[in-house]
Amino acid sequence: MTDAIEYLQSLTSIRPKIAVVLGSGLGGFAEELSDRREIPYTEIPGWPRSTAIGHAGKLVFGRIGRLGVAAMSGRVHLYEGYGPQAVTFGVRVLRALGIESIVFTNAAGGINLTLERGGLVLISDHINLQGSNPLMGPNDDSIGPRFPDMSEAYSKEYRETAKALAHEMGIKLTEGVYVALSGPSYETPAEIRFLRTIGADVVGMSTVPEVIVANHMGMKVLGLSCVTNMAAGILPQKINHEEVLETGAMVRDTLVRFMKALLPRLAE
Ligand code: HPA
Repeated sequence: MTDAIEYLQSLTSIRPKIAVVLGSGLGGFAEELSDRREIPYTEIPGWPRSTAIGHAGKLVFGRIGRLGVAAMSGRVHLYEGYGPQAVTFGVRVLRALGIESIVFTNAAGGINLTLERGGLVLISDHINLQGSNPLMGPNDDSIGPRFPDMSEAYSKEYRETAKALAHEMGIKLTEGVYVALSGPSYETPAEIRFLRTIGADVVGMSTVPEVIVANHMGMKVLGLSCVTNMAAGILPQKINHEEVLETGAMVRDTLVRFMKALLPRLAE
């Protein structure tokens, strides 16, 4: 990891304190940054490559106005065969580079029946059903505690800021619980009924390991899900990855507009 950190520090003089992670079909935000420096993951020592379609796989440093921002465009997932350490590598590097706040975005299936395809959900909390935890194994006490508290994994202050901003901008933003499964198969209708019963509003295959690691390292976290499809069994149709990417493209403009306004507010 030291190699990755030194390499990145040598490439850019921008030292952002805030970062975003862009999920499936949501990479467009990175193109909006000014003074951009794009670094393909393949060029960063030790950085795992994303294989998922719709994930560009690059780290972008740039600015919104005067605010320095780091954007991970594309991430790796457990379903690609990567372990929890690889999945959280990027977040660890970002923390080492000085990032203190991080906004995670993802594509998710809508479980809550009041949600609609293309809607944005502010993640209030999560349920980890991935069967692994990135903090398993020896703990480095200099980074964070052995048993980190997760009672406010998604900063309440940030959520209030996001809700107020969405209201001001006329963007519909509902709050909900994100449940993470390992994937890569989508859920069965029976699984979706189960997930609804246990209190989940949206379902996806990412974000949770990264959020755990970010909390462990004392970062402030915000999470946004884009409802790319209604979850299995809700509508009389099958789920396919193309639909997921298509919806990502549909809400892109709204999400970009929202994030451009949101990041400076969070940084205040
Ligand atoms: N299930 C799991 N992950 C997802 C979905 C879904 O329906 N849509 C986008 N990511």
